Amino acid sequence: MNPASRLSLLKPSPIRAITDGTPPGAIPLGLGEPTWDLPEVARKALLREPGPCAYVPHVGLLDLRRSVAAFHGAHVDEVLITTGSQGALFSLFQAWVEPGTKVLMPDPGFVAYPALARMAGAEPVPYRLSADRFRLDADELIRVLDATPEASAVILNLPSNPTGGGGDLAALKRVAEACTARGVLLISDEVYRDLHFGTRCPSLRDVTDRGVVTSSVSKGWGAPGLRVGWAVGDPAWLAPARVVHGYAVTGTATPAQWAALALIEHSETILAEARAAVGERWEALAAALRDELGQAVAPPDGTFYHFMALPASAHTDPLAFCLRLRDEAKVVLIPGLAFGEGGRGHARLSFAATPEQLREGVRRLAPYWKN
Ligand SMILES: Cc1ncc(COP(=O)(O)O)c(C=O)c1O
Repeated sequence: MNPASRLSLLKPSPIRAITDGTPPGAIPLGLGEPTWDLPEVARKALLREPGPCAYVPHVGLLDLRRSVAAFHGAHVDEVLITTGSQGALFSLFQAWVEPGTKVLMPDPGFVAYPALARMAGAEPVPYRLSADRFRLDADELIRVLDATPEASAVILNLPSNPTGGGGDLAALKRVAEACTARGVLLISDEVYRDLHFGTRCPSLRDVTDRGVVTSSVSKGWGAPGLRVGWAVGDPAWLAPARVVHGYAVTGTATPAQWAALALIEHSETILAEARAAVGERWEALAAALRDELGQAVAPPDGTFYHFMALPASAHTDPLAFCLRLRDEAKVVLIPGLAFGEGGRGHARLSFAATPEQLREGVRRLAPYWKN
């Protein structure tokens, strides 16, 4: 049996190469998800009053769309509810990325972006982030855009998975203007925006009402398993994406939308608690890195990722180095190379783990950095 030929375009996830085969007792610092409990309001909402568990309109539950719209300062017609922000990205790519065109994406960047572009028949084109802290570098992105006349879409991710780097308002504005001038769809993946350390990254909506913002309850609201996300933008961008999403999955699970509504209605407390949880974990990690490795590290602009510089000797084969960490030190880190060539010298350490796991994890890693 041979799967459809389009599958040959998809490479196996490099993250799986590390996480599959994790030995017992290993500390999972490769996780890309919150480890704290689902907020109580969402748990209760999942078991709402007795009655049918019916389909809701393909575009999403009206009350949920209203609250997402209010959260983003948008009109309800500018909101499409999707199955995670991944559902939004998939649908937007299928709807707007013409086969044979190119999609610009950050390098290092979220592993799904190249696969989403390829599934739409397009070619991923990487743009580098700033050399210092992996932030959005507008000059570099616009340089790549100018060199890519076949570009149909550009994707931004502030703050970034895997680097935690953000970007400033002026850079965002320049990129938005460049995309508008060239008629290229700009998608801003803002799924980590509310997990910050004092200063929230700007949103695309702060600089333009063109382009589309994607986000979800998976990170800030601590509910990745609900699979509720959204796209916010001009209804003309959303309508074709809604058709794709409708045929792919009909709609997002109705109880999950009830729970997402409860989460967003309680955003102020829930997001503040999530930031406190992430802040406490960051403090534990920073202290462990200082005590065990003598490293002084600044917090990322957002996310729960520390993009940790690898020892120079690991740069030729970062995967082999991270496999050794996994199998000998029993700590799982994701090699930065999994996110693109720009990540070769780093590994992604997720500090969504508990403070105890972080302390013990760094203690186990230390000999590999010292020797
Ligand atoms: C940058 C980024 N975007 C999008 C997603 C997709 O998340 P979800 O579909 O749960 O919203 C992830 C998940 O890890 C991510 O890291």
